Amino acid sequence: MVVGFAQGLWLTSCAGRHVAQCSLNRVVGAWPLAVSRRGYGLRMALSSDEDHAAAVEEKKQRALTNPMPVVKLKKGKSKIFYDGNAIVLEGAIDCVLGPESKLVPAAILPLVDHNFSVIGWGVYNPSSKFRFRILHHVIQDGEFDISHQIDMVHTLTSKLKRSMQLRQTLKLPSEETDAFRLTNSEGDSISGLIVDIYRNVAVVESSALWVEVHREQVERALRATLQDDVEIFWRQSKDKLVQEGMSKEELETGPNPSEAKQQMVKENCVEFEVALGAGSQKTGFFCDQRDNRARIAQLAEQKDVLDCFSYTGGFALHAAAHGAKSVTAVESSTAALSVAQRNASRNSVNVDFKEADVFDFLKGAIENGQKWDIVVIDPPKYAPTQKSLERARRKYHGLNKRALSVTRSGGLLLSCSCSRAMTGSGKFEDMIASAAQDAGKRVTFLATFGASPDHPNHPSMPETKYLTATLVAVFDT
Ligand SMILES: C[S@@+](CC[C@H](N)C(=O)[O-])C[C@H]1O[C@@H](n2cnc3c(N)ncnc32)[C@H](O)[C@@H]1O
Repeated sequence: MVVGFAQGLWLTSCAGRHVAQCSLNRVVGAWPLAVSRRGYGLRMALSSDEDHAAAVEEKKQRALTNPMPVVKLKKGKSKIFYDGNAIVLEGAIDCVLGPESKLVPAAILPLVDHNFSVIGWGVYNPSSKFRFRILHHVIQDGEFDISHQIDMVHTLTSKLKRSMQLRQTLKLPSEETDAFRLTNSEGDSISGLIVDIYRNVAVVESSALWVEVHREQVERALRATLQDDVEIFWRQSKDKLVQEGMSKEELETGPNPSEAKQQMVKENCVEFEVALGAGSQKTGFFCDQRDNRARIAQLAEQKDVLDCFSYTGGFALHAAAHGAKSVTAVESSTAALSVAQRNASRNSVNVDFKEADVFDFLKGAIENGQKWDIVVIDPPKYAPTQKSLERARRKYHGLNKRALSVTRSGGLLLSCSCSRAMTGSGKFEDMIASAAQDAGKRVTFLATFGASPDHPNHPSMPETKYLTATLVAVFDT
């Protein structure tokens, strides 16, 4: 892998070391004068100004002589990182100071603001738009001298243990549920690392370069956190790793991801087979919908339930196990459906599985006058980017219109979206209301749910809050 640099970045040589181009002088003396400009007040202001300039100068010298390169932010770009945001985009970086030879991909480096104050330590990736991921915030994790070298295993172990404690507070695992998310990337302050626990298997979703480069350290930290009998299963999120600058050859010739296998879990006392590895979706199971599945289960008794985009039968099996009169599940993936069918047999419940495109299935159901009391739609992400939003909105609209049309008057629709661009736009409910009008239905909004709480979000990164499930009461007009 080639570490690339913007042309002209490495400019001056300083006693055998390289120093990056950046406007160092402009930070000195930039401290505003105190309010009083008279007498003692002025002298105090000048002296605090000088003190500040001297302190900045000292920090600057320490940064310039630091044994490891130092990533420096532009002025005005540091607040969100002091607040705990973990992802530094290319545009926020002023320059990288220090020895070029040590600037290897995923090197652990300090991050400083424009005044050379240390914000934290993290991993640098010159090939990614996510240029720097902070893994250790001084405000949250303690203050260290710039020359301090944080230890990856120690940092990850303390974060993973904290994540595990939080899950235990949430009663995970429990007698009823042994599938849960141990760590949710930025939500647990480990940007780029997701780990799902499936009974005695920990599935690592590797989607950042540093996770691959520091794989051994990640595994050691997991070993220190998990019980001895837990197997670690490595799953590369290839598309994201390519965006992180890894070539397809590197992915193929690097240490192999674990082979595909099956694992049994239970969720809310319902048994599921989870397919791990090649061909599986995400880490194998969508734990984020656990509480929403339980909500549908509570409402399902004696109802006709339709689960659209059912994957391995998450909502369908919950409804069937809680006394639904009938359950129909629609899914286009043959592999997911065969797992779903085995799951139904294992739980001794009847589900009518349909291998079909949901849009076509709903169109046929409307033509045939079929109706259900409870309809769930949990489609894949239609708006991966802001740019794709308008097209996605039309797709969500068409889908919701069809789903509303097949919901009996007085029935319920659970309309889900895992597109942050869609739900964050604040227009999700508007879209449902407009789809209802077009379907000739009247709706009221009952509740809006998110992902289960083992998928935490950091307050400074609302963009990572992706899942919305809106419960809608549906009436004929
Ligand atoms: C977000 S997952 C659903 C998860 C599921 N509700 C659960 O509880 O596990 C989306 C599913 O939709 C399926 N899918 C995508 N497009 C589809 C389509 N047009 N028709 C039917 N299924 C589709 C995918 O194969 C995937 O299994």
